[in-house]
Amino acid sequence: MGFELKLTGTVICSGGNRGIGLGISRACAEAGANIAMLYHKHPEADKVADSLAKEFGVKVKAYKCDVSDAATVKSTVKQVESELGQVTGLAANAGVSVVKPALEMTPKDFSFVFDVNVLGVFNVAQAVAQHWIDSGFKKGSIVVTSSMSAEVYNQKGLNDPLTQVFYNSSKGAVTNMVKGLAAEWAQYGIRVNALEPGFCNTEQTSGMDQKIRDYQAASVPMGRFSEPHEQAAPALFLLSEHASYMTGHQIRPDGGFTVW
Ligand SMILES: NC(=O)c1ccc[n+]([C@@H]2O[C@H](COP(=O)([O-])OP(=O)(O)OC[C@H]3O[C@@H](n4cnc5c(N)ncnc54)[C@H](OP(=O)(O)O)[C@@H]3O)[C@@H](O)[C@H]2O)c1
Repeated sequence: MGFELKLTGTVICSGGNRGIGLGISRACAEAGANIAMLYHKHPEADKVADSLAKEFGVKVKAYKCDVSDAATVKSTVKQVESELGQVTGLAANAGVSVVKPALEMTPKDFSFVFDVNVLGVFNVAQAVAQHWIDSGFKKGSIVVTSSMSAEVYNQKGLNDPLTQVFYNSSKGAVTNMVKGLAAEWAQYGIRVNALEPGFCNTEQTSGMDQKIRDYQAASVPMGRFSEPHEQAAPALFLLSEHASYMTGHQIRPDGGFTVW
């Protein structure tokens, strides 16, 4: 085995049709895997899948699948394997946020965020792990997109928090969940790790006021936001056999943000 990152089989990537997820889909397709993008409701998902398939000569298909619905997730995983072949990796990446002051947050906001960021991650991880255990596949790798927000609160100015307590607490929850799943599933040859991105240029961040984005970029030692491909490369490493002794851990590509 050289130092080329190559994948075989099919990688499922939730939220794989845009942003960091598309970066991961693209990196895995370039490494030779077929890709199943799970998306929620974006009208262009099929088009994105087709263009990735053409670019890298692998099979890529978009599956409309709300990750918060366990039954749909289970049937989608079965469908993916029958249409694209052996599932070898999962990037549980779909995530959402609600930004408003804690005093205005509602139980509905809580469900919106936790149903995708925590239950949704659990649903896809459980469905894929069960499938691997049932079929005797012993080399599965799961990468959960958490966030540096699992550890720190972002600011929109000095001592001025970006108000998204449900988002941050959901990321703390999944970083912790990764450790538990890694511990339970190591006996089946399944590795589970977390990717904890720092600021990244995607639709999630592009809606923010430019002044906030400038402040945040200036607060990163590297002085800028990352691009999706810079998050995808470490995820690809975790999905690959090069990370064969890594489980229950976090990789945090944050440009040095959390050194402070
Ligand atoms: N951007 C950042 O700075 C940053 C930093 C740290 C961590 N992250 C994390 O990285 C991940 C990706 O973020 P992003 O910025 O790339 O997000 P994004 O551009 O806002 O895209 C979100 C993705 O999640 C999918 N999604 C949302 N709800 C879903 C559901 N119920 N079922 C299935 N898919 C669903 C969306 O599908 P549709 O296209 O169909 O809506 C879309 O593909 C998230 O977990 C996020 O929390 C992002």
